Amino acid sequence: MKLLVTGGAGFIGSNFIRYFLNVHPSTEIVNFDKLTYAGNLQNLADIDAQPNYRFVRGDICDAEAVEHLCEQPFDAIVHFAAESHVDRSIAAAREFIRANVEGTLVMLEAARKRKISRFLHVSTDEVYGSMAPKESATEQSQLAPNSPYAASKAASDLLVRSYVQTHKFPAVITRCTNNYGPYQFPEKLIPLMISNAIEGKKLPVYGDGLNERDWIFVEDHCRALDAVLEKGRIGEIYNIGSGRPVPNIGIVRSLLKLLNAPDGLIEFVQDRPGHDRRYALDDSKIRRELGWESKVELDAGLKHTVDWYRTHSDWVQEAKSGEYQAYYEKFYVKRRATLAQL
Ligand code: NAD
Ligand code: TYD
Repeated sequence: MKLLVTGGAGFIGSNFIRYFLNVHPSTEIVNFDKLTYAGNLQNLADIDAQPNYRFVRGDICDAEAVEHLCEQPFDAIVHFAAESHVDRSIAAAREFIRANVEGTLVMLEAARKRKISRFLHVSTDEVYGSMAPKESATEQSQLAPNSPYAASKAASDLLVRSYVQTHKFPAVITRCTNNYGPYQFPEKLIPLMISNAIEGKKLPVYGDGLNERDWIFVEDHCRALDAVLEKGRIGEIYNIGSGRPVPNIGIVRSLLKLLNAPDGLIEFVQDRPGHDRRYALDDSKIRRELGWESKVELDAGLKHTVDWYRTHSDWVQEAKSGEYQAYYEKFYVKRRATLAQL
């Protein structure tokens, strides 16, 4: 099997590549990533030299590059590449529309032309918007995105759907809840709070801290994607969650306890505009149809994550200082890992 992964240098993509090569060692993976601020090749430094893994730097909005890339005989595409941070989408939405909507269109067109037999579009529960207490979104729920990020993902989901309907395009969509785990960029809640607490800095909790998210350990998500890639029905959507929404303040307090740091570091700050109160998913479809379920309990996953950030202080420092961005120039440019070389 030969797999094209977009956005594989980011948080979930890099965890997915490591997971997939481990579980399916005879697979070949090409990782196509622009290396925005969120792409960090050090996330994959341990598998960089494997002969069945190749990195290619490129932009999913670059139709020529993507079409050239898709001349490779890929059996499937797993499409992660996107701008992913809500706060950045509030500050500047344009790049979210470019990467998430236009970029997805370019991927769909290239995959359609090359008749690629499976396209897994990795989406998010944020497309459903905020849920009332006790409510949870099914795959049929209305799309009601509230941030420019969520709107750009909903738009890309609808584009994928339109290709399935119009062109009989073989796509499957997944919508997962908030991920956490190793290699998450320290702008997102959990790694930001861990790294700030380690440095003795304040932990900025938005609003009253009672917004709820259904946190899933990243490896559980990767296992779900593997199951959907193998057995998911074409044209279907699969929700992926852990079924236990927790308020942000609860997460932050658990992290402080694991780090043996004082609650006094918590600082309630001005709320995010349009801040969704509660995300919750009904993921009974994937459990029923594909036999998948999340396995990692929140306490165990948070402990593992805290331990990882504690023992990877170089990674965190380089991510925060921007030093990681020199990695590509240092190693890849020298090795001329260009498209032409594939
Ligand atoms: P991330 O921001 O950590 O990584 C995104 C990756 O995409 C980076 O490596 C970046 O360089 C790359 N990229 C961005 N624009 C690109 C472009 N134009 N061309 C090529 N590469 C580009 O994101 P993540 O948290 O790993 O999320 C990955 C995917 O999963 C996204 O589509 C996101 O919407 C979805 N998702 C994320 C979560 C979550 O909790 N993080 C939950 C559900 C779904
Ligand atoms: P985030 O990790 O940005 O994910 P998303 O907005 O996609 O759910 O934020 C998770 C939750 O944590 C969200 O309710 C916003 C909140 N949050 C804070 O309270 N403080 C912060 O500094 C950040 C980054 C997020």
